[in-house]
Amino acid sequence: MLLMKLKFVTVGILISLSSVLGDTPANCTYEDIAGSWVFHLSAGNKNRNVNCSETFSTKNTIKISLIYPDIAIDEFNNRGFWTLIYNQGFEVVIAGRKYFGFSKYVGSSSFCDKIIGGWSHDIRGNDWACYNGQKSGAAITKTNVVKKDFGLKFSHRINSQEMVASINAAQNSWQAVRYPQFEGLRDEDFINLAGGPMSVIHSRPKPAPLTDAHKRLMGSLPESFDWRNVNGVNYVSPVRNQGGCGSCYAFAALAMDEARIRILTNNTQKPVFSPQDVVECSPYSQGCAGGFPYLISGKYAEDYGLVLEECNSYKGIDGICTTNSTCPRHYFTNYKYVGGYYGATNEAVILQALYEGGPLAVGFMVYSDFSNYKSGIYHHIDSISDNLGRFNPFEITNHAVLLVGWGVDKKTSEKYWIVKNSWGENWGIDGYFWIRRGTDECGFESLAVESTPVFTFNS
Ligand SMILES: *[C@@H]1O[C@H](CO)[C@@H](O)[C@H](O)[C@H]1NC(C)=O
Ligand SMILES: *[C@@H]1O[C@H](CO)[C@@H](O)[C@H](O)[C@H]1NC(C)=O
Ligand SMILES: *[C@@H]1O[C@H](CO)[C@@H](O)[C@H](O)[C@H]1NC(C)=O
Ligand SMILES: *[C@@H]1O[C@H](CO)[C@@H](O)[C@H](O)[C@H]1NC(C)=O
Repeated sequence: MLLMKLKFVTVGILISLSSVLGDTPANCTYEDIAGSWVFHLSAGNKNRNVNCSETFSTKNTIKISLIYPDIAIDEFNNRGFWTLIYNQGFEVVIAGRKYFGFSKYVGSSSFCDKIIGGWSHDIRGNDWACYNGQKSGAAITKTNVVKKDFGLKFSHRINSQEMVASINAAQNSWQAVRYPQFEGLRDEDFINLAGGPMSVIHSRPKPAPLTDAHKRLMGSLPESFDWRNVNGVNYVSPVRNQGGCGSCYAFAALAMDEARIRILTNNTQKPVFSPQDVVECSPYSQGCAGGFPYLISGKYAEDYGLVLEECNSYKGIDGICTTNSTCPRHYFTNYKYVGGYYGATNEAVILQALYEGGPLAVGFMVYSDFSNYKSGIYHHIDSISDNLGRFNPFEITNHAVLLVGWGVDKKTSEKYWIVKNSWGENWGIDGYFWIRRGTDECGFESLAVESTPVFTFNS
């Protein structure tokens, strides 16, 4: 316990949130993004470490129509794919190239008709260029509603005896406990634990409606399943501890990729990948301020590859990229939102993808009551968090975790998911938690992602 507490404290205080609190991520929805776009591309070359924040002159221009929810058509009538990526930006795959960029944002304002400094490369990753995108029509500028009193009024309430007692008195489904390692945690630290300020999703999708085919599919799957015990074999790598860095997205993404290698190799390969490499080196995330599994387990792992833990061991702080460049990189592909695109996810497709492909990285909304989870089937208790938790920052963060299985409580028939967290083994059920299934609890069934290991190195 003491060791873990020290870890949190040493890692926790080093984080400075002041630099990022001014910025909240973009809030661009399908309505804002679907339509006609023009992409202005720089000259291409083989350098995938191209810095797309720098200004460039236009070498090529392409016109693309994005049709809800996932069809892209270019000016030559090529058909391709696109998906919104959380509310941060979008990815297009068309005519042999991929395009990804964040929607422009400044402070709490989003400019959803603009992509600045996007990355484009051919499917094989041999020709990289930068692009700026402009949507036709009127400017789409939105300002997020930001709580002004964040960080002042609501501090020092996490982990209180009052809150834990109220949770346990209010219901029997799950049990809460105070954690010594969370003693004195400030809201800022908790935001980092639960996703980081840049992991906020301003307009979360609802799960896709369950069709009859989805219901038949669910009926065909076992009542319970756990990748930690498939006929006695465990395919999930050990629980880790992200400390005070908002790097859950990296832990969840890498844990999925680790488990999928174990599954595909029948446990003959058990890599543990480096989240510090992601924190320091990924252009597709914001270090300890947050990020998203789609862009790491998938896009970063396809474009740049992952390295083993020993190539850049975990420190839980931001920094320049210090990964040992002689280390081999491990690639993943076919990354996608479960169901195909952003908003296509639901309980049935998650069950199927989990059962057939392996663990999934999932993002869900964390409220203060969750931090004190000890055991049982978690569901958010509204009144308690609002009245006692006082954890009410500018927006609920999006915490990324690893979904490894499901079950049903024999007594109550309550359905649940089995989930690996990245808060160490001294939290929850040996580092895991159960959460209510079938009701999109805390948005758990709307945003799952998957990707597939590649066993050839492309560099
Ligand atoms: C990329 O370029 C921008 C603008 O010139 C600069 O601020 C930033 O530090 C550069 N990033 C890297 C990783 O070199
Ligand atoms: C994000 O955009 C949606 C749709 O335009 C809007 O309903 C929502 O209030 C916005 N969120 C914030 C935090 O401003
Ligand atoms: C997978 O590994 C187990 C345990 O080592 C072994 O018994 C089994 O035969 C292996 N399966 C395959 C298909 O190689
Ligand atoms: C990088 O890795 C190589 C080979 O694994 C090793 O010899 C070298 O000492 C490492 N460099 C650093 C700075 O750790």
